[in-house]
Amino acid sequence: MAGAIILGTGSFLPEQIITNHDFEMMVDTTDEWITTRTGIKERRICPRGMASSDMGKEASLNACRDAGISLDEIDFILCSTITPDMFFPATACLIQAKLGIKNIPAFDISTACSGFIYGLEIAKNLILTGGYRTGLVVSTETMSRMTDYTDRSVCVLLGDGAGAAILRHSDEEGILGSYLSADGSYGNLLYVPAGGSLNPASFDTVEKRMHFMQMEGSRLFKIAILTMSESINRLLDRFNLKKEDISIFIPHQANLRIINGVAKNLGIPAEKFYVNIERYGNMSAACVPIAMDEASKKGLLKKGDLIITVAFGGGLTWGANLIRWAR
Ligand code: UT7
Repeated sequence: MAGAIILGTGSFLPEQIITNHDFEMMVDTTDEWITTRTGIKERRICPRGMASSDMGKEASLNACRDAGISLDEIDFILCSTITPDMFFPATACLIQAKLGIKNIPAFDISTACSGFIYGLEIAKNLILTGGYRTGLVVSTETMSRMTDYTDRSVCVLLGDGAGAAILRHSDEEGILGSYLSADGSYGNLLYVPAGGSLNPASFDTVEKRMHFMQMEGSRLFKIAILTMSESINRLLDRFNLKKEDISIFIPHQANLRIINGVAKNLGIPAEKFYVNIERYGNMSAACVPIAMDEASKKGLLKKGDLIITVAFGGGLTWGANLIRWAR
Protein backbone atom coordinates (compact mmCIF):
# COMPACT_ATOMS: atom_id res chain seq x y z
CA MET A 1 0.00 0.00 0.00
CA ALA A 2 1.38 3.44 -0.91
CA GLY A 3 1.68 6.16 1.71
CA ALA A 4 3.51 9.33 2.71
CA ILE A 5 5.75 9.07 5.76
CA ILE A 6 7.50 11.72 7.84
CA LEU A 7 11.16 11.09 7.09
CA GLY A 8 12.62 13.86 9.25
CA THR A 9 11.79 16.95 11.28
CA GLY A 10 13.62 20.15 12.16
CA SER A 11 13.09 23.39 13.97
CA PHE A 12 14.61 26.79 14.53
CA LEU A 13 14.15 29.12 17.49
CA PRO A 14 15.71 32.58 17.67
CA GLU A 15 18.06 33.09 20.63
CA GLN A 16 16.50 36.15 22.25
CA ILE A 17 14.20 35.30 25.15
CA ILE A 18 11.49 37.50 26.70
CA THR A 19 10.50 36.26 30.15
CA ASN A 20 7.35 36.98 32.13
CA HIS A 21 9.49 39.22 34.36
CA ASP A 22 10.45 41.27 31.29
CA PHE A 23 6.72 41.77 30.61
CA GLU A 24 6.21 42.98 34.19
CA MET A 25 8.33 46.00 33.18
CA MET A 26 6.44 46.56 29.91
CA VAL A 27 2.72 46.18 30.76
CA ASP A 28 0.47 45.84 33.81
CA THR A 29 0.94 42.10 34.37
CA THR A 30 2.64 39.60 36.65
CA ASP A 31 4.58 36.37 36.23
CA GLU A 32 1.96 34.77 38.45
CA TRP A 33 -0.96 35.84 36.18
CA ILE A 34 0.75 34.71 32.98
CA THR A 35 1.90 31.40 34.46
CA THR A 36 -1.39 30.41 36.04
CA ARG A 37 -3.63 31.64 33.17
CA THR A 38 -1.52 30.38 30.25
CA GLY A 39 1.36 28.13 31.37
CA ILE A 40 3.86 30.39 29.55
CA LYS A 41 7.12 31.40 31.25
CA GLU A 42 9.14 32.70 28.28
CA ARG A 43 9.08 33.06 24.50
CA ARG A 44 11.60 33.66 21.68
CA ILE A 45 11.78 36.84 19.60
CA CYS A 46 13.32 37.27 16.15
CA PRO A 47 16.00 39.93 15.86
CA ARG A 48 15.41 42.89 13.54
CA GLY A 49 16.28 41.98 9.98
CA MET A 50 15.47 38.28 10.42
CA ALA A 51 12.25 37.33 8.63
CA SER A 52 9.95 34.30 8.54
CA SER A 53 11.79 32.95 5.49
CA ASP A 54 15.13 33.04 7.35
CA MET A 55 13.77 30.98 10.22
CA GLY A 56 11.94 28.72 7.74
CA LYS A 57 15.18 28.11 5.86
CA GLU A 58 17.01 27.06 9.05
CA ALA A 59 14.20 24.73 10.16
CA SER A 60 14.12 23.22 6.65
CA LEU A 61 17.88 22.59 6.64
CA ASN A 62 17.57 20.89 10.04
CA ALA A 63 14.70 18.72 8.75
CA CYS A 64 16.76 17.70 5.70
CA ARG A 65 19.70 16.77 7.95
CA ASP A 66 17.39 14.75 10.19
CA ALA A 67 15.88 12.98 7.16
CA GLY A 68 19.33 12.36 5.69
CA ILE A 69 18.42 13.88 2.33
CA SER A 70 20.08 16.50 0.17
CA LEU A 71 18.26 19.64 -0.92
CA ASP A 72 18.05 18.48 -4.55
CA GLU A 73 15.79 15.61 -3.44
CA ILE A 74 12.99 18.04 -2.47
CA ASP A 75 10.18 17.98 -5.07
CA PHE A 76 7.93 20.72 -3.61
CA ILE A 77 7.85 23.28 -0.81
CA LEU A 78 4.68 24.08 1.10
CA CYS A 79 4.93 26.88 3.65
CA SER A 80 2.23 27.71 6.18
CA THR A 81 2.49 31.17 7.68
CA ILE A 82 0.35 34.13 8.68
CA THR A 83 3.47 36.28 9.03
CA PRO A 84 4.92 36.13 5.50
CA ASP A 85 7.99 38.24 4.73
CA MET A 86 5.72 40.27 2.41
CA PHE A 87 2.44 39.85 0.50
CA PHE A 88 4.29 38.23 -2.37
CA PRO A 89 6.45 36.45 -3.40
CA ALA A 90 5.18 33.59 -1.27
CA THR A 91 7.40 32.82 1.72
CA ALA A 92 7.79 29.30 0.26
CA CYS A 93 9.45 30.86 -2.82
CA LEU A 94 11.72 32.98 -0.62
CA ILE A 95 12.73 29.88 1.35
CA GLN A 96 13.29 28.05 -1.95
CA ALA A 97 15.65 30.81 -3.12
CA LYS A 98 17.50 30.86 0.22
CA LEU A 99 17.94 27.09 0.00
CA GLY A 100 19.19 27.47 -3.58
CA ILE A 101 16.60 25.09 -5.04
CA LYS A 102 15.18 25.71 -8.53
CA ASN A 103 12.30 24.52 -10.70
CA ILE A 104 9.98 22.86 -8.20
CA PRO A 105 6.55 24.05 -7.03
CA ALA A 106 6.58 26.31 -3.95
CA PHE A 107 3.51 27.91 -2.40
CA ASP A 108 2.03 29.22 0.86
CA ILE A 109 -1.13 28.35 2.71
CA SER A 110 -2.78 30.63 5.25
CA THR A 111 -4.70 28.68 7.87
CA ALA A 112 -3.08 30.31 10.93
CA CYS A 113 -2.33 27.99 13.85
CA SER A 114 -3.76 24.96 11.98
CA GLY A 115 -1.27 25.52 9.14
CA PHE A 116 0.94 22.50 9.75
CA ILE A 117 -2.09 20.19 10.13
CA TYR A 118 -3.51 21.40 6.79
CA GLY A 119 0.00 21.32 5.28
CA LEU A 120 0.62 17.66 6.11
CA GLU A 121 -2.67 16.61 4.52
CA ILE A 122 -2.06 18.65 1.35
CA ALA A 123 1.51 17.35 1.08
CA LYS A 124 0.38 13.76 1.56
CA ASN A 125 -2.09 14.15 -1.30
CA LEU A 126 0.48 15.78 -3.59
CA ILE A 127 2.71 12.76 -2.95
CA LEU A 128 -0.03 10.16 -3.38
CA THR A 129 -1.76 11.68 -6.39
CA GLY A 130 0.62 14.27 -7.85
CA GLY A 131 3.60 12.11 -8.67
CA TYR A 132 5.95 13.87 -6.23
CA ARG A 133 8.34 11.76 -4.14
CA THR A 134 9.59 14.14 -1.45
CA GLY A 135 7.95 17.25 0.02
CA LEU A 136 9.05 19.92 2.48
CA VAL A 137 6.33 21.27 4.77
CA VAL A 138 7.54 24.27 6.75
CA SER A 139 5.65 26.46 9.22
CA THR A 140 7.35 29.69 10.18
CA GLU A 141 5.96 32.55 12.23
CA THR A 142 7.33 35.89 13.40
CA MET A 143 4.35 36.63 15.63
CA SER A 144 6.31 39.44 17.33
CA ARG A 145 5.87 41.51 14.16
CA MET A 146 2.08 41.66 14.58
CA THR A 147 2.11 41.94 18.36
CA ASP A 148 0.99 45.10 20.12
CA TYR A 149 3.40 45.27 23.06
CA THR A 150 1.05 47.67 24.84
CA ASP A 151 -1.85 45.16 24.84
CA ARG A 152 -1.30 42.91 27.86
CA SER A 153 -4.11 40.54 26.92
CA VAL A 154 -2.27 39.45 23.73
CA CYS A 155 1.43 40.31 23.91
CA VAL A 156 2.30 37.88 26.69
CA LEU A 157 1.00 34.96 24.65
CA LEU A 158 3.04 35.07 21.43
CA GLY A 159 6.49 33.99 20.29
CA ASP A 160 8.54 33.36 17.13
CA GLY A 161 9.85 30.12 15.67
CA ALA A 162 9.80 27.69 12.74
CA GLY A 163 9.33 23.95 12.33
CA ALA A 164 9.57 21.70 9.28
CA ALA A 165 9.02 18.14 8.15
CA ILE A 166 10.21 16.12 5.16
CA LEU A 167 7.54 13.81 3.74
CA ARG A 168 8.37 10.97 1.39
CA HIS A 169 6.47 8.48 -0.74
CA SER A 170 6.67 5.03 0.85
CA ASP A 171 5.28 1.51 0.76
CA GLU A 172 4.24 2.08 4.36
CA GLU A 173 1.44 4.40 5.44
CA GLY A 174 2.58 7.40 7.52
CA ILE A 175 -0.05 10.15 7.42
CA LEU A 176 -3.05 7.84 7.80
CA GLY A 177 -5.70 10.54 7.60
CA SER A 178 -6.69 14.02 8.65
CA TYR A 179 -9.75 15.88 9.79
CA LEU A 180 -9.83 19.50 8.57
CA SER A 181 -12.49 22.12 9.19
CA ALA A 182 -13.16 25.87 9.29
CA ASP A 183 -15.88 28.37 10.15
CA GLY A 184 -15.30 31.77 8.58
CA SER A 185 -18.17 33.34 10.50
CA TYR A 186 -15.83 33.41 13.53
CA GLY A 187 -13.14 35.29 11.58
CA ASN A 188 -13.51 38.40 13.73
CA LEU A 189 -12.43 36.60 16.91
CA LEU A 190 -8.79 36.57 15.81
CA TYR A 191 -7.48 38.80 13.06
CA VAL A 192 -5.28 41.65 11.89
CA PRO A 193 -7.68 44.38 10.64
CA ALA A 194 -5.36 46.33 8.32
CA GLY A 195 -2.64 45.89 5.75
CA GLY A 196 -4.75 43.99 3.21
CA SER A 197 -7.14 45.06 0.43
CA LEU A 198 -9.92 46.03 2.85
CA ASN A 199 -7.88 48.47 4.94
CA PRO A 200 -4.60 49.13 3.16
CA ALA A 201 -1.82 50.65 5.23
CA SER A 202 -2.30 54.37 5.91
CA PHE A 203 -1.42 56.86 8.61
CA ASP A 204 -4.89 56.21 9.99
CA THR A 205 -4.47 52.41 10.23
CA VAL A 206 -1.09 52.83 11.90
CA GLU A 207 -2.42 55.43 14.34
CA LYS A 208 -5.34 53.14 15.27
CA ARG A 209 -2.96 50.20 15.78
CA MET A 210 -4.85 48.17 13.17
CA HIS A 211 -1.78 46.25 12.00
CA PHE A 212 -1.63 44.31 15.26
CA MET A 213 -3.43 41.09 16.08
CA GLN A 214 -6.85 41.52 17.71
CA MET A 215 -8.23 38.68 19.77
CA GLU A 216 -11.33 37.78 21.76
CA GLY A 217 -9.50 35.47 24.13
CA SER A 218 -12.23 34.08 26.32
CA ARG A 219 -14.57 33.19 23.41
CA LEU A 220 -11.67 31.56 21.56
CA PHE A 221 -10.75 29.62 24.66
CA LYS A 222 -14.07 27.74 24.73
CA ILE A 223 -14.18 27.17 20.96
CA ALA A 224 -10.60 25.87 21.03
CA ILE A 225 -11.42 23.16 23.55
CA LEU A 226 -14.54 22.11 21.63
CA THR A 227 -12.96 22.06 18.15
CA MET A 228 -9.74 20.32 19.19
CA SER A 229 -11.74 17.69 21.10
CA GLU A 230 -14.05 17.22 18.11
CA SER A 231 -11.09 16.85 15.72
CA ILE A 232 -9.55 14.08 17.81
CA ASN A 233 -12.89 12.29 18.20
CA ARG A 234 -13.59 12.44 14.46
CA LEU A 235 -10.26 10.79 13.66
CA LEU A 236 -10.63 8.12 16.33
CA ASP A 237 -14.15 7.31 15.07
CA ARG A 238 -13.15 7.24 11.39
CA PHE A 239 -10.27 4.84 12.04
CA ASN A 240 -12.15 2.82 14.63
CA LEU A 241 -9.51 3.52 17.26
CA LYS A 242 -9.71 3.97 21.02
CA LYS A 243 -7.98 6.91 22.69
CA GLU A 244 -5.70 4.36 24.41
CA ASP A 245 -4.35 3.34 20.96
CA ILE A 246 -2.68 6.75 20.60
CA SER A 247 0.84 6.95 22.05
CA ILE A 248 1.09 10.72 22.14
CA PHE A 249 -0.96 13.79 21.23
CA ILE A 250 0.89 16.80 19.80
CA PRO A 251 -1.37 19.82 20.29
CA HIS A 252 -1.17 23.47 19.27
CA GLN A 253 0.30 25.39 22.20
CA ALA A 254 -2.04 28.36 22.72
CA ASN A 255 -2.73 27.93 26.42
CA LEU A 256 -1.91 25.10 28.84
CA ARG A 257 -5.46 25.35 30.21
CA ILE A 258 -6.81 24.70 26.70
CA ILE A 259 -4.62 21.59 26.32
CA ASN A 260 -5.66 20.33 29.77
CA GLY A 261 -9.29 21.14 28.93
CA VAL A 262 -9.12 18.95 25.80
CA ALA A 263 -7.49 16.12 27.79
CA LYS A 264 -10.19 16.37 30.48
CA ASN A 265 -13.00 16.57 27.92
CA LEU A 266 -11.84 13.37 26.24
CA GLY A 267 -10.84 11.52 29.41
CA ILE A 268 -7.21 11.28 28.28
CA PRO A 269 -4.39 11.66 30.84
CA ALA A 270 -2.88 15.15 30.42
CA GLU A 271 0.63 13.57 30.39
CA LYS A 272 -0.17 12.10 26.96
CA PHE A 273 -0.21 15.63 25.48
CA TYR A 274 3.24 16.96 24.59
CA VAL A 275 3.69 20.43 26.09
CA ASN A 276 6.46 22.99 25.57
CA ILE A 277 4.36 26.16 25.89
CA GLU A 278 6.30 27.23 29.01
CA ARG A 279 9.40 27.86 26.85
CA TYR A 280 7.97 29.25 23.60
CA GLY A 281 4.39 30.53 24.01
CA ASN A 282 2.07 30.52 21.02
CA MET A 283 3.99 30.46 17.72
CA SER A 284 0.88 29.89 15.58
CA ALA A 285 1.51 27.24 12.88
CA ALA A 286 5.06 26.62 14.08
CA CYS A 287 3.92 25.12 17.41
CA VAL A 288 2.99 21.65 16.19
CA PRO A 289 6.09 20.92 14.05
CA ILE A 290 8.44 22.27 16.74
CA ALA A 291 6.71 20.11 19.36
CA MET A 292 6.89 17.11 16.98
CA ASP A 293 10.60 17.72 16.38
CA GLU A 294 11.29 17.96 20.13
CA ALA A 295 9.26 14.84 20.91
CA SER A 296 11.10 12.96 18.16
CA LYS A 297 14.54 14.08 19.36
CA LYS A 298 13.64 13.09 22.94
CA GLY A 299 12.83 9.57 21.71
CA LEU A 300 9.15 9.91 22.59
CA LEU A 301 8.02 8.88 19.07
CA LYS A 302 8.82 5.25 18.26
CA LYS A 303 8.47 3.38 14.99
CA GLY A 304 4.92 2.07 14.66
CA ASP A 305 3.47 4.48 17.25
CA LEU A 306 0.17 6.15 16.44
CA ILE A 307 0.27 9.89 17.11
CA ILE A 308 -2.32 12.63 16.71
CA THR A 309 -1.49 16.26 16.00
CA VAL A 310 -4.29 18.74 16.70
CA ALA A 311 -4.72 22.50 16.35
CA PHE A 312 -7.13 25.39 15.98
CA GLY A 313 -6.57 28.99 14.99
CA GLY A 314 -7.57 32.10 13.07
CA GLY A 315 -10.16 31.64 10.36
CA LEU A 316 -11.35 29.97 12.44
CA THR A 317 -9.70 26.77 11.27
CA TRP A 318 -9.07 23.52 13.09
CA GLY A 319 -8.11 19.94 12.50
CA ALA A 320 -5.96 16.93 13.33
CA ASN A 321 -3.67 14.38 11.64
CA LEU A 322 -3.43 10.70 12.52
CA ILE A 323 0.15 9.57 11.89
CA ARG A 324 1.91 6.22 12.16
CA TRP A 325 5.47 7.14 13.06
CA ALA A 326 7.64 5.38 10.51
CA ARG A 327 11.23 6.12 11.52
O1 UT7 B 1 -3.71 30.35 18.76
C1 UT7 B 1 -5.03 30.70 18.97
C2 UT7 B 1 -5.19 32.11 19.44
N1 UT7 B 1 -5.41 32.44 20.80
C3 UT7 B 1 -6.00 31.71 21.75
O2 UT7 B 1 -6.32 30.60 21.60
C4 UT7 B 1 -6.23 32.35 23.06
C5 UT7 B 1 -7.34 31.68 23.80
N2 UT7 B 1 -7.64 32.37 25.03
C6 UT7 B 1 -6.83 32.35 26.12
O3 UT7 B 1 -5.79 31.72 26.13
C7 UT7 B 1 -7.29 33.09 27.35
O4 UT7 B 1 -8.62 33.53 27.16
C8 UT7 B 1 -6.39 34.32 27.68
C9 UT7 B 1 -5.04 33.84 28.21
C10 UT7 B 1 -6.20 35.19 26.47
C11 UT7 B 1 -7.03 35.14 28.79
O5 UT7 B 1 -7.27 34.35 29.93
P1 UT7 B 1 -8.69 34.40 30.64
O6 UT7 B 1 -8.60 33.53 31.84
O7 UT7 B 1 -9.73 34.04 29.60
O8 UT7 B 1 -8.80 35.88 31.10
P2 UT7 B 1 -9.86 37.00 30.67
O9 UT7 B 1 -9.66 37.40 29.25
O10 UT7 B 1 -11.22 36.54 31.09
O11 UT7 B 1 -9.41 38.19 31.59
C12 UT7 B 1 -9.46 38.09 33.02
C13 UT7 B 1 -8.83 39.32 33.61
C14 UT7 B 1 -9.33 40.62 32.96
O12 UT7 B 1 -9.42 41.58 33.99
P3 UT7 B 1 -10.82 41.96 34.63
O13 UT7 B 1 -11.67 42.45 33.47
O14 UT7 B 1 -11.35 40.68 35.21
O15 UT7 B 1 -10.48 43.00 35.61
C15 UT7 B 1 -8.20 41.00 32.02
O16 UT7 B 1 -8.14 42.39 31.80
O17 UT7 B 1 -7.41 39.29 33.37
C16 UT7 B 1 -7.00 40.53 32.79
N3 UT7 B 1 -5.82 40.31 31.99
C17 UT7 B 1 -4.58 40.34 32.50
N4 UT7 B 1 -4.12 40.55 33.74
C18 UT7 B 1 -2.80 40.53 33.94
C19 UT7 B 1 -5.75 40.03 30.67
N5 UT7 B 1 -4.48 39.89 30.30
C20 UT7 B 1 -3.71 40.07 31.40
C21 UT7 B 1 -2.34 40.04 31.67
N6 UT7 B 1 -1.93 40.27 32.95
N7 UT7 B 1 -1.43 39.78 30.72
